[in-house]
Amino acid sequence: MCGIVGYIGFRDAFSVLIKGLHRLEYRGYDSAGIAVIEDGIVGFKKSGKVSDLEKVCEQHIFRSRIGIGHTRWATHGAPIDCNSHPHYSENGKLAIVHNGIIENYHSIKEALLLKGHTFSSDTDTEVLIHLIDEIKTKTNLDLQDAVRAALRKVVGAYAILVLDEDNPGRLIAARKGSPLVIGVGNNEYFVASDATPIAEYTRNIIYLNDNDVACVNYDGLSIVNLNNIVQVPFIHELELQIDILEKGGYPHFMLKEIFEQPRSIRDCMRGRLYPDEGRIALGGIKIYEDFLKKVNRIIIVSCGSSWHAGLVGEYLIEKYARVSVEVEYASEFRYRHPVIDQHDLVIAISQSGETADTLAAIELAKKCGATVFGICNVVGSSIARNTDAGIYTHAGPEIGVASTKAFTAQVTIITMFAFYMAQLKQTISKNHLKEHLAELNLLPELVELCLHCDDKVKKIAEKIKSSNNCIFLGRGSAFPVALEGALKLKEISYIHAEGYPAAEMKHGPIALIDEDMPVVFIATNHSSYEKVISNIQEVKARKGVVIAIVSESDTQVNKIADYIIEIPEISEFLVPTLASIPLQLLAYHIAVSRGCNVDQPRNLAKSVTVE
Ligand code: AGP
Ligand code: GLU
Repeated sequence: MCGIVGYIGFRDAFSVLIKGLHRLEYRGYDSAGIAVIEDGIVGFKKSGKVSDLEKVCEQHIFRSRIGIGHTRWATHGAPIDCNSHPHYSENGKLAIVHNGIIENYHSIKEALLLKGHTFSSDTDTEVLIHLIDEIKTKTNLDLQDAVRAALRKVVGAYAILVLDEDNPGRLIAARKGSPLVIGVGNNEYFVASDATPIAEYTRNIIYLNDNDVACVNYDGLSIVNLNNIVQVPFIHELELQIDILEKGGYPHFMLKEIFEQPRSIRDCMRGRLYPDEGRIALGGIKIYEDFLKKVNRIIIVSCGSSWHAGLVGEYLIEKYARVSVEVEYASEFRYRHPVIDQHDLVIAISQSGETADTLAAIELAKKCGATVFGICNVVGSSIARNTDAGIYTHAGPEIGVASTKAFTAQVTIITMFAFYMAQLKQTISKNHLKEHLAELNLLPELVELCLHCDDKVKKIAEKIKSSNNCIFLGRGSAFPVALEGALKLKEISYIHAEGYPAAEMKHGPIALIDEDMPVVFIATNHSSYEKVISNIQEVKARKGVVIAIVSESDTQVNKIADYIIEIPEISEFLVPTLASIPLQLLAYHIAVSRGCNVDQPRNLAKSVTVE
């Protein structure tokens, strides 16, 4: 979730901040802003690029040695000027920049409104600076203690910097769930989301830990945790070069984003999953609950990986909510004269929220009277704005062209939506819902476990990297995973790959099988396990090379397949997310070993905004 930067020292703060924001641009963002302390706080903010912010700042001659900056990736409130950061307390004496999501901002805002606070934005962040100010004013606590007291009331993820014009010699920094580092220079300090804005000034880095609250002055810093216990900082010597730093130490954005999935899936579920109560809350579509209770048909329109996520939705929504689902390629739907009306729900799934075919499909659906929801990753994107309601995936910016964390976030949302519909239509018992939600709540940890297969997958990739073709096979909700695995491989390694329902082999594709054809099976021990084993034997009988994704307790497939990749024992509804992880890694390692441009594959764009 985007970037923050802070400075206190002997240099011109504005120059350090703007340069730092440019260094953070690679993380993807939609707005930018800065604030410095001169006689009082002076701040500028703007939707758009850092260069747009610089133009706005041209009107001011800066003379400050302390300040904060922000590149925003909107989660609450469209990417418009007033929602850009910094945000300010009512009296304008406090300023904050924030990365993350304040999950309980709504209840805090309600309480502050009752106390007479007024707000100038739709963001969760503005609520936090008002809370800090409320506590500071009412208790006369010093700034660090007021920030600590406020953060103890916050549920969610944050990396923040706070300025106080009445205390112009200090910066307050705090983090929980979003990264924040401090660069220790000679009589100067830098604070940022990662070391990229800092590395050119100093290699001495302090990595703040969750619940740390740091007070940074011109001549030193102190760190306490939320319980006011002093934390002893450890200074690391930074070794990485800046271009590697931009990728979080990974060689490619795609690999960084694959390994971000425990965090992105946690953010995707944040504030929506209540396993103890056996409840899902999807605030973005809540006002449509009465309509959803009556819905009997859902049409999902999307493209590429988002279409595969839609296919997963077909299996899960029909199984749990007993509602008919059709999944359409948006590019076909828009020209097909579909039969839909005001009783139907159309759901558009799109990471970018700008895909031309999906936008056109939405317009057609609205013309036919359907209610249209969007599942998007980019807040305020065209699809988000052109649909009646929606659910953001909160996966954070996805820089790699090949979708990974956005795909698993879409699948997580569609899984929650399936249970949400089952909850509304009462097609699932409370106890069963509690069980499923308890397991869904473990998904980030299960993904973390899945990522441990990376070394093994890398070895398998070496064995099949020279293949010219590859087939991916799965049954049930693993069939869309086979399609997604094939798409990942073909789009970044340029190997021809196809995904099929495993039973389809006999209807033609089995003619392709020989010793040069790797076949990847999703063969976890679920409903069609025995049938998949038969399919594997059919392939082996024709000398095919079999790579199988299996459950870790598997005892049968490992006797017949050539290569095995184990994923944790899970309920079938989690297979689409977890089985995708090794397939993302397989495609990645094969593409790297073939010397392909993994982050920007040939002929592809991150968002297909034209037909
Ligand atoms: C997936 O790896 C590709 N980048 C592509 O298929 C993508 O999913 C498709 O273009 C749809 O994009 P969207 O989700 O932004 O609408
Ligand atoms: N949740 C905050 C907002 O929507 C911060 C988003 C970010 O991490 O940039 O403004």
